[in-house]
Amino acid sequence: MFQRGIQIEKGRVGVMGAAGDVLRESGRVLVERMAEYLDTVAERPVSTPLAPSDLLGRFAEPLPREGRPAEVVWADVWERVVDDSIHLAHPMYMGHQVAPPLPHAVLADALTSLLNQSTAVWEMAPTGTGVEQQVVGWMRELLDFPPQSDGTLVSGGSAANLTGLLAAREATFPGAWRDGVQGSSQLERAAVFVADHAHYSIERALGVMGLGHGAGIRVAERDFRLDPAALERAIADARSRGRIPLAIVATGGSTATGLFDDLSAIADIARSESIWLHVDGAHGASFMASDRLRERLRGMERADSVSWDPHKMMFMPISAGAILVRDRRHLDSAFQQTAPYLFHPRPGESRSHDIGRRTLQCSKRFDALKIWISVQIHGLDHFARLQEHTVDRAAALFRKLQEADDFEPAHAPESNILCFRHLPVAWRDRPTEELDSLQNRLREVYNASGRGWITATVLGGRRVLRVTLMNPATTDDHLEALLQGLRDTAAGLTGSTGREPSRAGGESRR
Ligand SMILES: Cc1ncc(COP(=O)(O)O)c(C=O)c1O
Repeated sequence: MFQRGIQIEKGRVGVMGAAGDVLRESGRVLVERMAEYLDTVAERPVSTPLAPSDLLGRFAEPLPREGRPAEVVWADVWERVVDDSIHLAHPMYMGHQVAPPLPHAVLADALTSLLNQSTAVWEMAPTGTGVEQQVVGWMRELLDFPPQSDGTLVSGGSAANLTGLLAAREATFPGAWRDGVQGSSQLERAAVFVADHAHYSIERALGVMGLGHGAGIRVAERDFRLDPAALERAIADARSRGRIPLAIVATGGSTATGLFDDLSAIADIARSESIWLHVDGAHGASFMASDRLRERLRGMERADSVSWDPHKMMFMPISAGAILVRDRRHLDSAFQQTAPYLFHPRPGESRSHDIGRRTLQCSKRFDALKIWISVQIHGLDHFARLQEHTVDRAAALFRKLQEADDFEPAHAPESNILCFRHLPVAWRDRPTEELDSLQNRLREVYNASGRGWITATVLGGRRVLRVTLMNPATTDDHLEALLQGLRDTAAGLTGSTGREPSRAGGESRR
C-alpha cells in the first residue's frame, strides 16, 4: 500500500522510499494548495459556523493500526481541518492578536521542523544558537539595551512574563530559587504592582511561582492605563504594611485596548524606588521597528525586563516570543541548575552557550530561524510599514465610528486594537444590561455569519466589541464592510434598521 517513506511493516523496519522523495512529491502538492489557499482565502467565510458539539464528532475515530495513502490523508486534512479553521489571512479577520504569518516565515518554519535543532543546548544547535543570539542581539539593539543585556526566545508572552518575573524574584530575593517560598519569610511579603489591564499571564506567573494571587497589588488605572500617581501611592502603602516590592509590571500595548502605559513616568518611579520594572511588550514591543510608532514605547529602554512577541506584530507564525533582560546576570540566575548530560562547560567559555540554562524549556524549538530569514528578506522597514498600515486602519476605524450615529468608540486607538459599541439608534434608551447583552449577541451572530470575525471584552464595566487589526490586507473598504455587517446583524437581532430615529427624538449622542 505504501509507495514511499520509512515504514515499520509487519514488525520490521523497512525503507520503502527515500525521505527526500516524500518531501518532493507531497511537498509540491501541499505548497501548491497552500498558495491557492492564500490566493482565494478572501472568498471563504472567515470562520466555521459549527458549534463544538457539531465539529468535535468529526474527529472521533478509532486509532488507526494501519495507515492510508498519504494523498488521501492530505486531501482529508483540507476538508476536515482547513476548511473549518478560522482564516487569519482573510482581510475580514479582526480577532485576537494572532497574525496571518508572512509566507517566508511559514517556509522557514518547515525548515525549522526539518532540522529540528533544539536550541536549548549548544551541541544540538550550534548554528541555531548563533542565529538566536543574533536575533536577540537585534532586539536588544532596537530596545536600546546596554551591552550587558541578554535574552532568549520563548514560546510567547506568557512564558516571557514568567521568565521576567523569575529574574526579578532572584534579583530582589537572592536565594529564592534554592529556598523557595517556604524557606524565606521575606518572599511571603513580596509585592508585584500591576494594573487591571495586565495580561492574565502575570497573575498566572505569580501562581506558578508559588507567591499566590495575594502577591499582586492592583494599581488603579486612568483612561485604561496604569496611573503613575496611583502606583506611587500603592508602593508607599504596601511598604508601610511591610510588603517588599518584587516588581512593577507595565504594559506596552495592553491586550484589551492596545493602549500604552506611560512607560517613562513608570520607569522614573521604578528607578527612584529601586524596584524591578518589567514591561509586558508582548503586543507592542515590535513597534520599535517603526520610527513613528516607537515613540509610544518611550521609557521601555529603562526596563529591567521586556516581553516581546514577534508572533504578534512581526507577523510570525506561533511560536515566537522573547524575554529580554537588561542585565544578563539576572537571566542567568532566574534558573539555576546543572544537567551534566546536557550542559557541558567548554574550555575558554566564560558564560555557557547553552541557552537552556536560561530558559524553562529543554526541548526548545528553533523559532529564531523564521525571524532571521524574514528580517533579511524583507528588511526591518517592511515590518514597520505593515505595522503602520494596521495602526492607521485602527485610526481610520475610530474616525468612522465617531462620524456614525450608531457606533461609539470606547477609546482613541494607539495601536491596531480598538474597542467600541454598536448602539442602534432605536435602542439608545435601553437599559445598560440590554445594550451589554446586545454587544455579546452581536459578536456571536456576526462571527457565525462568516462575514467577519471580531472579539469582545469588558471595559469600565461595560461590554464592548473589540477588533485587533492584525492583517495588513485589511483596507478601509473592509472596515466599512465590518460596520455594515454589524448593522445588518443588529437589525436582525433588534428588528430595527439600526439607524432610524430614536424614541427620544433622534438627537445625536455627541
Ligand atoms: C500584553 C500581552 N501579554 C502577554 C500575552 C500572552 O502572550 P502569548 O499568547 O504569546 O503567551 C498577550 C497575548 O495576547 C498579551 O496581549
